[in-house]
Amino acid sequence: MKKIIISNLKMNTVPSDMKSYSMQLATKTAGSKNRIIVCMPFTHFHTAKQFLDGSKIEIGAQNVSDEEAGKNTGEISASMLKDSGVSYVIVGHSERRSKFKETDRLINKKLKMALSQGLKVILCVGEDRVTRENKGACQFVKKQLDDVLKGIYENELESVIIAYEPIWAIGTGKTATLKDIEKMVGLIRKEIAYLYNDKTQISVVYGGSIDIKNYKKIISLPCLDGALVGGASLDVDNFSVIARENY
Ligand code: 13P
Repeated sequence: MKKIIISNLKMNTVPSDMKSYSMQLATKTAGSKNRIIVCMPFTHFHTAKQFLDGSKIEIGAQNVSDEEAGKNTGEISASMLKDSGVSYVIVGHSERRSKFKETDRLINKKLKMALSQGLKVILCVGEDRVTRENKGACQFVKKQLDDVLKGIYENELESVIIAYEPIWAIGTGKTATLKDIEKMVGLIRKEIAYLYNDKTQISVVYGGSIDIKNYKKIISLPCLDGALVGGASLDVDNFSVIARENY
């Protein structure tokens, strides 16, 4: 089955790393049926684009401004991303929610701005450990979806990939169980059917401590459309194996 395999390099590489990373990834995944996206810092686009040209690997950003233009020193707009050859942007990552105090309201604005400029969005949701321990995970994710999708039309969901990333599983070496993933992805699909209709299609991927040992079992889950890989995507050999797998 064709899957969506996304890497998130976070803040762990420098622009000059992208020559070798892009060339190797393109070579090692040539012929793969999967959709492969590399989400990188803004400074990396130029080099990555140069060495990914001619491959089917797409470039993603890790953040976008909620504003179109103007007096926003240091911000990067959706049209700047688009003009730099970027196809995707991650919105609502838990690291931005917690460290930069991004609220569902702001994430909703960023989502609308990105879509209006023709970008596709990887929209992250997921609960923290305490919420899960208190059995509030489903309610929490449901509310996140309700809030971030306000005013988004059904036809726009074609350009949205929902990434379920439980915060307690990110960078901890401990993934959610297959059962937990199936349950939450089921809930996400149910909520989308409730907010839109039964026939609404949505792509859902999982992220959180996916590595070279556990990737196959998780990504092969029929309920999942793919994966968002952080730490394990820094090693281009490992990420290439995950990205070119036939699921
Ligand atoms: P890890 O794969 O390192 O847990 O990171 C997941 C993530 O946050 C991807 O966006």
